[in-house]
Amino acid sequence: MADLSVAFVGKKLRSPIGVASHAVLNEGLSGTEKETEQLKAYSDLGVGFVHTPFICPEEEHPKDAPPGWKFQGIRSREPFMMEGLLVATEARRIMCRLNAGLNMIENLKENLPDDVAVIANMIGPGADPDGWAEHCKSAEEAGADIIEMNVSCPLPASEAKAVQEYSTGEMSEAAGSLLGDSLQLLLPVVKAVVEECSIPVGVKLTPETGFPRIIGFAEGIRNAGAKFISGINAPITVSPPDIYKNGQGKWPGMTTNPICAALGPWDRFLLYRNLGTISLFVPEIELAGIGGLVEPEHVVEAMMLGARVCEFSSGILWKGTDIIKESLEFLETYMDRQGYNSIEEIIGKGVKYIVPVEQVDWRQEDFIATVDDRLCTRCGRCANNICKARTLEENPLRIVIDSRYCIGCGLCQAICPEHAVSIVEQKHPVIGISVDE
Ligand SMILES: Cc1cc2nc3c(=O)[nH]c(=O)nc-3n(C[C@H](O)[C@H](O)[C@H](O)COP(=O)(O)O)c2cc1C
Ligand code: SF4
Ligand code: SF4
Repeated sequence: MADLSVAFVGKKLRSPIGVASHAVLNEGLSGTEKETEQLKAYSDLGVGFVHTPFICPEEEHPKDAPPGWKFQGIRSREPFMMEGLLVATEARRIMCRLNAGLNMIENLKENLPDDVAVIANMIGPGADPDGWAEHCKSAEEAGADIIEMNVSCPLPASEAKAVQEYSTGEMSEAAGSLLGDSLQLLLPVVKAVVEECSIPVGVKLTPETGFPRIIGFAEGIRNAGAKFISGINAPITVSPPDIYKNGQGKWPGMTTNPICAALGPWDRFLLYRNLGTISLFVPEIELAGIGGLVEPEHVVEAMMLGARVCEFSSGILWKGTDIIKESLEFLETYMDRQGYNSIEEIIGKGVKYIVPVEQVDWRQEDFIATVDDRLCTRCGRCANNICKARTLEENPLRIVIDSRYCIGCGLCQAICPEHAVSIVEQKHPVIGISVDE
């Protein structure tokens, strides 16, 4: 049986799969019993770590902003299907209050096995280094194994004050991605937290910091003493207007269209950008994969790009605990079949293949598209003006590829709904295809 254990920031975890901060029960506002029970249930399934929801320094819930949020699922027709989830709310409506959060950490530490880490997701006061340090220290004193600095929550950036706060750097309350995307303000805060805490500290990045700026951020975060970087929090977006209602919002029960956060599958490539490029350019810092991972295979992909651990968030909202069970089972079978004895052998396996685009092995002239006539339904999608090499011929009805023009680019393969196209080496003879010699 494959050994799923992994070392993360010096702690041995029983598996690399865990649960991201995703405070959907909204319990942390007052008490945390149900939410804690939920995290324990995830632990019973075999996860290697759990996160608290984001814990803020305030004790009282603001009276003018009762708990609440709205979700919206965005779906396209085939072939795109489910695109992702949107969420809108104010951070202060849902932040976990300090005492509730610290109780949760204590409770989890008492009840979870030693090889399941309790990661405290902390959101401190604005960009104040001392305030952040004191805040994170309280999680350490409550028993947290690891601190994850939430400098990436998209919610503060969806508020009216965001543009001005970001441009002046004056952030008084939870600043989320406004802080995480401001290198000058961020680094003193990270340094202060690292100096104050004895447990490992990491930083959860915002996808608002794009490439190549993330490389400078990763270097700065590493030099400030942080031990890990978590892939990404959710990006900010605007949801599509309702085109049959004069452009109003499509949110449940609302007509307005708030600036909001985008969760789920569409975040995965932003995560892979961060994992792959940070692994390449700043290899000394450990990485946690979070953002857009919604299938068991995604865990392996993220690990091959350098993540030591992987987390599910909106995947859990869609699939419930099944995603955890399926992923752990998949990982065991996958490792046995592929001959991996340890998680360590998988981590970073794909990094050596990441190259700047002009260094790829193009070999364009060697490859060509072929169509499997048994699978092709003659729908014509691949001949529909996408490429001059392809024609849908009649009598007999079939796709013909003109080998003089085909450069093996793979576009027709990418869009074929029947998986009837292969890109093959020209020198190999191919059965069941239509190539115009
Ligand atoms: C309901 C909900 C609550 C969340 N709360 C937190 C939080 O408290 N702290 C945090 O760092 N991220 C929070 N997130 C963000 C997730 O941890 C994660 O970064 C984001 O959902 C992207 O991952 P996904 O694409 O797998 O959903 C929350 C996400 C959801 C869906
Ligand atoms: S898209 Fe696929 S199924 Fe449709 S005509 Fe082209 S090869 Fe055939
Ligand atoms: S591989 Fe590219 S060039 Fe060749 S037929 Fe398909 S779309 Fe055209």
